[in-house]
Amino acid sequence: MHEINAGSYSVFFNEHGTTELNRLLAAKNYSKVFILTDTLSNECCLDKFLPTLETISEIEVIEIENGEYNKTIETCVSVWSILADFGADRKSVIINLGGGVVTDLGGFVASTFMRGIDFINIPTTLLAMVDASIGGKNGVDLGHLKNQVGTITNPSLVLINTVLLETLPADQMRSGLAEMLKHGLIYNVDYWNKFLDLTTLDLSDLDMLIYESVLIKNVIVTQDHTENGIRKALNFGHTLGHAIESLFLHSHKAILHGEAVAAGMILESHLSLSKGLISNVEYLQIKQLIKGLFGTLPLSGEDQDKVVQLLAHDKKNEYGNIRFALLRGIGNIQIDETADNELIYSAFEDYNS
Ligand SMILES: NC(=O)c1ccc[n+]([C@@H]2O[C@H](COP(=O)([O-])OP(=O)(O)OC[C@H]3O[C@@H](n4cnc5c(N)ncnc54)[C@H](O)[C@@H]3O)[C@@H](O)[C@H]2O)c1
Ligand SMILES: [Zn+2]
Repeated sequence: MHEINAGSYSVFFNEHGTTELNRLLAAKNYSKVFILTDTLSNECCLDKFLPTLETISEIEVIEIENGEYNKTIETCVSVWSILADFGADRKSVIINLGGGVVTDLGGFVASTFMRGIDFINIPTTLLAMVDASIGGKNGVDLGHLKNQVGTITNPSLVLINTVLLETLPADQMRSGLAEMLKHGLIYNVDYWNKFLDLTTLDLSDLDMLIYESVLIKNVIVTQDHTENGIRKALNFGHTLGHAIESLFLHSHKAILHGEAVAAGMILESHLSLSKGLISNVEYLQIKQLIKGLFGTLPLSGEDQDKVVQLLAHDKKNEYGNIRFALLRGIGNIQIDETADNELIYSAFEDYNS
């Protein structure tokens, strides 16, 4: 349980990962090491991370403001400028130390600066550990449209150190849990079943659950780096989830990515049910477990209309058709499914009931 091979790079865990990180830095002999942080990863994680870092290269720390609102091209411009001012060159490396905002934005900054420099992801949130830091997708939001600009570029290494989660608030832990549940739903019913009775789980299980979640994400993305097939499975819960996330970000109070995805998973499970892809028993199990953890988001009729409008901007659309990755039984997926608005509205109706 130390290492997962992700093709051009590896995901390493805990102390062993630190050794591998230092080994990579020595082997690559980078001209400068830039550590990208945000307000809270800087405050909570930098002091834990820096003493473990062994390098003779010069280190510069860059801090951006925390929060999804800052995952913008304007923030990239300021980071690119800092890199240039501090003499970054093509032999420099960026270590992204933070949640998904830092790993997404830092990966994009690195993959475009001087046409691409190396970057390393050290995720500090549960969500970034099991999802955002793995698989090479990076990018920023464009206005209220999520992740509209970005690249698919692999990091040179990912280091998952669960000690960094000690300071993560409970709601952020829960947000990461949503993606772990997704991994079970789309790929492995045994993994999903582990969450059915959360009273049997404790913190000592967390390392193993994270490891298994990364394995699932990795096995999917390494089969389909550019998202032409199986990788679309990871979009389960995200077609509606992203639209709900955008809605709350701009019309209400921002909610966490995992909270939006949790609602999206219930709604898209209902679409799966309507299309005869899962049984009513499976649907009710999914709805009950996820609602038990996440509650119900207030989604008025007006909100539902806005969500349906936002779907038109989804990157997963092809030739104007909205595509869903739906469940085909728990643990399997059926990609490239369409659903008309009537089915979407009936999913909302059941979600609100
Ligand atoms: N690239 C991908 O494949 C992929 C996949 C999933 C999600 N994402 C993206 O990831 C982002 C969400 O990631 P997130 O949930 O990590 O959000 P985030 O990066 O905003 O982090 C959540 C909050 O936790 C704080 N934080 C980070 N580490 C902490 C720590 N150890 N202790 C205390 N506070 C800490 C952050 O400062 C922030 O305020 C979204 O932008 C989403 O689009 C990308
Ligand atoms: Zn997600």
